[in-house]
Amino acid sequence: MQIARTLVQLRAARAALAADGRPGLALVPTMGALHEGHLSLIRAARAHGDAVAASIFVNPTQFAPHEDFARYPRDEAADCAMLAAAGCDLVWLPDVATMYPPGDATMIEVAGPALLWEGAARPGHFRGVATVVAKLFGQVRPDAACFGEKDWQQVQVIRRMVEDLGLPVDIIAAPTWREPSGLAMSSRNRYLGARERAAAPTLFAVLTGVRDAICAGAPVGQSIAAAEASLVAAGFTVDYLALVDAVTLAPLHEPAGAARLIAAARLGATRLLDNIAV
Ligand code: PAJ
Repeated sequence: MQIARTLVQLRAARAALAADGRPGLALVPTMGALHEGHLSLIRAARAHGDAVAASIFVNPTQFAPHEDFARYPRDEAADCAMLAAAGCDLVWLPDVATMYPPGDATMIEVAGPALLWEGAARPGHFRGVATVVAKLFGQVRPDAACFGEKDWQQVQVIRRMVEDLGLPVDIIAAPTWREPSGLAMSSRNRYLGARERAAAPTLFAVLTGVRDAICAGAPVGQSIAAAEASLVAAGFTVDYLALVDAVTLAPLHEPAGAARLIAAARLGATRLLDNIAV
């Protein structure tokens, strides 16, 4: 596995893969603190591209000042070992000055699906995500890029950006990787205390319950209100739980077309996200 820390090294690594007869490249962008969910994206990318690259960059512009940027878990050596074992060919480890050169004055403005839910709860978050992903695409020049359905809204924001800017990158969405309890894996799960960790799988259990109720014909509003009450009883503070259009993220009052049930809820200081198809 090649490791590139500068744009010069990245170009050389990319050229070496092409010279090896593997010009096609699929990229998995990450912020590190890797777990099985990230590795499932590496495997999905391998099935799609000739070669697989991962990037690790904790992107400051997608964190608000009060968020966990400074204490976001970082473990480059462990991450690189996991990536190599998963069959990754190239890791891109840029520094902040490479991603945001001194005097930088360009960001990608996002609206539409980026303004709702996570976008409303974390103003500026998707602007930072879209900007860093566009930069990664420009630097790595992948043919495809793989994102997790775990962050459903993020995938829709990126698909929108790729279409709007005409970026020549296929976006692949891979299913959410879960612990046996049903809890969606997340780098932030390591912040959970023992009692919170025991309560955390309730989020997925409640989502599947609402989905089953809605599919059986129960009214959406009532089903969601009951689910929110169960989450509160399990110790969560619910930021949102909603049935939405799977692409535009617009709220739905009854299931129609491709619908998604999305949720964000907090256990103590840790915010958990999850979503499922309806
Ligand atoms: P990060 O949270 O590190 O996630 C990197 C990728 O892994 C994202 O596409 C995310 O959806 C996916 N992922 C995380 N947990 C997953 C799980 N349990 N199952 C499947 N996929 C999972 O998302 C980001 O980083 C950043 O916003 C980024 C896109 C890298 C831009 O900075």
